[in-house]
Amino acid sequence: MRILGIETSCDETSASVLSGSGNDVTLESLVILSQDVHRIFGGVVPEIASRQHLTSILPVIDQALGDAGATFAGLDAIAVTHAPGLVGALLVGVAAAKGLSMTTGVPLVGVHHLEGHLFATSLEHPDAVPPFIALLVSGGHTLLLDVPAWGRYELLGATRDDAAGEAFDKAAKLLGLPYPGGRHLEALARDGDPSRFRFTRPMLRRDQRLGDDDYYDVSFSGLKTAVMLAVKGSQNIYEDAAHIARGFQDALTDTLAEKVARAVRARESTRVVLGGGVACNRALVAAIEMRAGREVQVFAPSPRIATDNAAMIARAGLFHAELGHWAALDLDASSSTPIPGMIRP
Ligand code: KG4
Ligand code: ZN
Repeated sequence: MRILGIETSCDETSASVLSGSGNDVTLESLVILSQDVHRIFGGVVPEIASRQHLTSILPVIDQALGDAGATFAGLDAIAVTHAPGLVGALLVGVAAAKGLSMTTGVPLVGVHHLEGHLFATSLEHPDAVPPFIALLVSGGHTLLLDVPAWGRYELLGATRDDAAGEAFDKAAKLLGLPYPGGRHLEALARDGDPSRFRFTRPMLRRDQRLGDDDYYDVSFSGLKTAVMLAVKGSQNIYEDAAHIARGFQDALTDTLAEKVARAVRARESTRVVLGGGVACNRALVAAIEMRAGREVQVFAPSPRIATDNAAMIARAGLFHAELGHWAALDLDASSSTPIPGMIRP
């Protein structure tokens, strides 16, 4: 199968062509246009995001088809992110995909953005395929899943408040770093002394037992408040900023790594797959590698594949297309909906 993927759920307009079958796939092209304008506002402005998608979507699709040497006549499917995300932004991709499907006769597949992130890492690491424990850490979501097979997602834990990326962005803002702040905070933390600011590990206690409500869940809003208090209490923020960044990153990565290690032990898993923008964080990957143990393989995507892109949408779309999960022309955009195939144990 040869498939076109389209992604417009937030502030990246992206299109990609991918071909193959099962887990044997080839990425033929990937175009990602990032909307820099939101930096001025310190966060994504939904109305502006929709308008920019509107002007870029067709040129981005043209470029992706051109790079792959593909035409609509040679495509077997068009996969588009239809949920979750900013509804106005999603609508641009969904409307474009439906219009193209209707005029060319190429069938349509609706893809859940987070299922895309789950598939992303396998584009770079052929062994990052089920069964595995997945940690999805993006700007809007933090999920710990057991994935025995593609399409079967058992929800083990999630954040009770802020997503991991959101916590990074908020802590970065408090430290005066540009938006989105995750990678800037990681860079700053490299110069930080880990012993200067030691923040409480949120939702991490030794007395937690399998079956407890909070055994796998996380919570980051208290950590953000701790960073705020540290910034306010600092006598010399220029000197302390790196130490505070290090203290914050250590607390967050340590918590996530321990929750992943618990899942690995409970499910007797030998593979961990990371997805979402925060999976770019090297300290997080190192913490998970250390806590999970030497016999466990940890797969993390490169920044281009970790953050929002259409290759992951084409990859998840291929899986659904092979099962005949076609969407009708009434496919709608939705701001929040569970991953298809997700169950709570
Ligand atoms: O998956 P993604 O591109 O978009 C969403 O679907 O949300 O994730 C974006 C998030 C942002 O919060 C960004 O600050 C964070 O990923 N991020 C990082 C790093 N690179 C990106 N967080 C921590 N360390 C990084 N190196
Ligand atoms: Zn994402």
